[in-house]
Amino acid sequence: MKKRVLALLLAGVMALGMTACGSTAPEASGNGQEAPSQEGEIGETEKPADSGEGIQVGIVLPTKDEPRWIQDETRFGEILDEAGFTYQVLFSQGSSATEKTNVETLVSKGVKVLILCPQDSAAAASTVDYAADNGVTVISYDRLITGTAKLNYIVGFDSTSVGTAQGNYLIEQAGDKKGNPLYLYAGATTDENAFLFFEGAWQALQPKIADGTFVIKNSSEAEALSDTQELTREQMSAILGQITTDWDFEVSKSKAEANLTAASAADKGDVFILAPNDGTSRSIADVFAIDPDVTSYVITGQDAESASIQYIIDGKQSMTVLKDTRILSRAAVDMATEILESGKATTNATYDNGAGEIPMYQMEVLSVTKDTMQEYIFDSEYYNAADFTGLE
Ligand code: BGC
Repeated sequence: MKKRVLALLLAGVMALGMTACGSTAPEASGNGQEAPSQEGEIGETEKPADSGEGIQVGIVLPTKDEPRWIQDETRFGEILDEAGFTYQVLFSQGSSATEKTNVETLVSKGVKVLILCPQDSAAAASTVDYAADNGVTVISYDRLITGTAKLNYIVGFDSTSVGTAQGNYLIEQAGDKKGNPLYLYAGATTDENAFLFFEGAWQALQPKIADGTFVIKNSSEAEALSDTQELTREQMSAILGQITTDWDFEVSKSKAEANLTAASAADKGDVFILAPNDGTSRSIADVFAIDPDVTSYVITGQDAESASIQYIIDGKQSMTVLKDTRILSRAAVDMATEILESGKATTNATYDNGAGEIPMYQMEVLSVTKDTMQEYIFDSEYYNAADFTGLE
């Protein structure tokens, strides 16, 4: 079965070319078709009990305010249409209450499999329990859902390695020079991934903070822990409390502005910035770019959003981490297919979500810089080079 999934993943990468980015998405989308016979498409197992009436697969994504999730919606549409599933995609718009209502709606429509990317990792537990108690198999998509053993599966990337890639990039760029100003930013504290990203980055950066390569400029909590390689959850919470962006562009901008206002000219110069994802990276970069005392900056990102690919080409962002949404959505749909077919999905890892070891299908990430962009982004047809300016 695993072989089949991998083959499907590969086929997905090859088959799916460029899709529109930044496209607008309707409130809800789906093909609204009747569920097809399961024969041919997903094997000879029984049809779901109410196929022909209900929706087979429900997908709930956190917000339309970030291009990242709109791209996931587009990918799902392509793959689920091709697979012939009935499905519906709903957005929670940053609200756990809306997320719960969305899940209730999908459960009432008879979904068999729920693919849920939570707004808040802990708050989603009761929503998962509700779906599970109604006979739905729940897959946590990209963002982790914590605190419930009723969660069936997780499909996502190795989030710690995202942070490691970001931290290692900053280290490479700093070279042997000591005393480099370092500004740290993190995701929302309600998102378990934000802790994993930061943990990975910290584990990479900490020895270089301890040896004076980097000097933290915007977090007294992180500074106080300069010599601690393995942070406890409480220690991370204390740091994230100071450096969180809430995954919000405006919060990122105002936090960066406040940090630069508080910093002296000597705390600026050639600076290094850990930014957790592309949206926050662009906001923070724009603030650092106009500070007269910042002579250069190196800044990380994540998601390979098209706007950030353009920023990297333009020298306004330094790197991003590609979490290929073609592979991710394909893996989630493969999981749903296997569940509908046999009640069980292929996994290659587990994740302890605080209530149990949840089976996970985990994938690797790629670091994208000016040097690797051609191969990872254009040759793989993630985006079309013709849609960007400034490439030779
Ligand atoms: C996702 C990132 C995303 C961030 C903000 C995280 O949970 O893994 O890809 O950029 O949320 O939406």
